[in-house]
Amino acid sequence: MNKPFYESCEENKQVILQQLQSLFKPVRQVLEIGSGSGQHAVFFSQQMAHLQWQPSDLQENLAGIELWRQQAGLSNIKAPIELDVMNLQAADLAAVDAVFTANTLHIMSIVHVEALFQAMGRWLQPGGLFCCYGPFNHNGQFSSDSNARFDQWLKQRDAVSGIRDLSELSKFAEQAGIGLKEDIEMPVNNRILIWSKH
Ligand SMILES: C[S@@+](CC[C@H](N)C(=O)[O-])C[C@H]1O[C@@H](n2cnc3c(N)ncnc32)[C@H](O)[C@@H]1O
Repeated sequence: MNKPFYESCEENKQVILQQLQSLFKPVRQVLEIGSGSGQHAVFFSQQMAHLQWQPSDLQENLAGIELWRQQAGLSNIKAPIELDVMNLQAADLAAVDAVFTANTLHIMSIVHVEALFQAMGRWLQPGGLFCCYGPFNHNGQFSSDSNARFDQWLKQRDAVSGIRDLSELSKFAEQAGIGLKEDIEMPVNNRILIWSKH
């Protein structure tokens, strides 16, 4: 098996790192949801040696993530675990100070997104962070024509996917007892949303 490779991860990893470096200064344990290829997990744990990074994804992606992890030979990245947001358990979040996820909320159905926010509210410790990178809409508006086209492409591929609106996420967050701490504009019409448990 060859290591999976996403060009997008190479393109966005530096700019995401710049934000995470200050945000994750006081953080020690990170759970990543939907790690995909494993490139982010390896790069961020390499660059932020004070963190213990726990990658996770659906079963089908674990072997690829593990290949990246083994070849990196880092001591602060754990073996990937199988994790579906519909089945997030208290134990998955018991030891973590922050949860990171990139480019996942527009892939999952809205039912999955809601389940994810509920789990964050139930099981993150007070002050615990939930960081989401990706494209998001504001007030029902796409932030660019390319994001509107991307949304169309997503929905043709899978009707339950699509770019999420901040107001929709905020409703889930409010119900879950987590609040938006920062909404950071990122290159190529992406954002980092940082939520924190009250
Ligand atoms: C577009 S990829 C993003 C991968 C990586 N985070 C990145 O930025 O390149 C979306 C990821 O979400 C994961 N995913 C989809 N549904 C999920 C679910 N129900 N629970 C956890 N992960 C899920 C997929 O397996 C995939 O790895």
